[in-house]
Amino acid sequence: MSRVFSGIQPSGELHIGNYLGAIRNWVNIQDEHQCIYCVVDYHAITAEYRPKEMPTRIFDLAAGLLACGVDPEKATLFVQSDVPQHTELAWIFNTVTPMGELSRQTQFKSKSEQNLNNINVGLFTYPVLQAADILLYRASHVPVGEDQEQHLELSREIARKFNARYGKVFPEARTMFTSTPRIRGLDGKAKMSKSLGNSIAVDETEKRLRKKLASAFTDPNRVTRTDPGDPKVCNIFTLHGFFSPSETVQEIDGACRKAEIGCVDCKKKLGDAMVGHFAPIRERWAELRADPTQVHEVLNTGRDRCQAIAADTMQRVHRKMGLVR
Ligand code: TRP
Repeated sequence: MSRVFSGIQPSGELHIGNYLGAIRNWVNIQDEHQCIYCVVDYHAITAEYRPKEMPTRIFDLAAGLLACGVDPEKATLFVQSDVPQHTELAWIFNTVTPMGELSRQTQFKSKSEQNLNNINVGLFTYPVLQAADILLYRASHVPVGEDQEQHLELSREIARKFNARYGKVFPEARTMFTSTPRIRGLDGKAKMSKSLGNSIAVDETEKRLRKKLASAFTDPNRVTRTDPGDPKVCNIFTLHGFFSPSETVQEIDGACRKAEIGCVDCKKKLGDAMVGHFAPIRERWAELRADPTQVHEVLNTGRDRCQAIAADTMQRVHRKMGLVR
């Protein structure tokens, strides 16, 4: 079984972009691979946050992942800051990472533009910590969305540089793309993200979910109810593709093109399908919130397993680098 590693930031909301783009896939591959999934709190602190809220964000994300179907009997789930070797290895990787490569990372450019008052070095070396996450477990595959490809390419370069200088310790981790393209937000344009305010949370109440859908952009060229619509450019139609049965999707496709169905009805149908899809997840999530010890036990087990692998990798690293007495 190949080893898979992936991480998600506790950004305060698990939204359907995360769910469709990553988590669903994490759940699907846990039978065939040895999966390690990480709540990357050290990455999250590169943006400003309220320390008082962080424990809940971490706990809640872990509970949400379990509710979505991450199975602790099959996969390992843990919190990044529980395993100090992530930052230790990141420091070592800083010394083999070319400055120029980091400057070319598009996520750094866009994140620093969004945060002109907090362009910190951590944001700059974010991809080095990400490489350390993956390589600490000598993972061979990393399931992520396409926006992470540049970071993964850099992790491969870091592995090559380290191996060339000190001797082989690390494999080059391959990107495992999800079949899902990036999920657009309620604005129908930008990638769904909490910070852009265009997201739908996985555990939205029915009322809020329907309200959000009601405000969502559809085909921009369909101005009045009698205009025929183009499902191909409509984000609501895209979402139908994930949540509605294929006959419904086909029906809507035809009816929208002929203006037989309006956006309001179309959204109502999507709301029905999504409420049904997420009801069991919301229920399970509420159970886990009510019984936190279950979640803490999963995270403690994950921490212990990961610390053991991490200690082994760091011993190899230290030996190769001559950092021994
Ligand atoms: N950078 C990733 C994101 O924003 C999160 C992440 C951190 C990650 N470390 C990782 C993903 C390691 C995969 C592997 O989505």
